[in-house]
Amino acid sequence: MHFTSPLSLLTFAVSALALTITSPSTTNQKVDLSEPFTIRWTTVPSDPQNFTITLVNMLGHNVNQDLVKNIDSSEEEYTIEGVDDIPIANNYQINFRSTDRENMGILAQSPMFNVTKVAEEERDNTTATTATQSAPSQTETNAAGGKGVVVGSGVVALMMGFVAVAL
Ligand SMILES: *[C@@H]1O[C@H](CO)[C@@H](O)[C@H](O)[C@H]1NC(C)=O
Ligand SMILES: *[C@@H]1O[C@H](CO)[C@@H](O)[C@H](O)[C@H]1NC(C)=O
Ligand SMILES: *[C@@H]1O[C@H](CO)[C@@H](O)[C@H](O)[C@H]1NC(C)=O
Repeated sequence: MHFTSPLSLLTFAVSALALTITSPSTTNQKVDLSEPFTIRWTTVPSDPQNFTITLVNMLGHNVNQDLVKNIDSSEEEYTIEGVDDIPIANNYQINFRSTDRENMGILAQSPMFNVTKVAEEERDNTTATTATQSAPSQTETNAAGGKGVVVGSGVVALMMGFVAVAL
């Protein structure tokens, strides 16, 4: 234990100089995700060029949602435009995950924060839109079916005609 402590301290010191999330930065900070929220970070040249930003909540909520994949680390900020499909809860975290196939680990982690609000779900509108869209398409199907029957009986009539001619 006494031998490993200085080593882990060193690892900590090194990673503290690398990719660091500067927003959200305060533990238990209230974050309103119904509004655009900007994630900010600092980077050094030795950091990976790209990474994936993930929203997680592992304490009682099974949230693990990629917010943006393969973002360029030199951008140093990314604005989430409202998240609607997560529970309002405490203990959320932002993770930066490596997109490097050789090293899929977590590059940086924000302090835990409390989500106080999420965007309005637009599911009702979507359902309404889907319903109005599916109604005409059913009509179309029926119409096509009707045509099919017409064509079918036409063919039958034609065949009967042939039969009649043959007789
Ligand atoms: C944020 O969540 C933590 C952990 O549940 C809680 O102790 C704290 O009171 C919350 N802070 C605010 C400002 O709601
Ligand atoms: C890094 O991200 C940028 C912007 O998303 C993209 O254009 C570029 O191809 C990515 N680079 C790598 C190495 O994946
Ligand atoms: C969804 O419905 C709400 C309330 O009916 C409305 O205010 C909002 O503009 C709608 N959103 C879309 C995308 O249609």
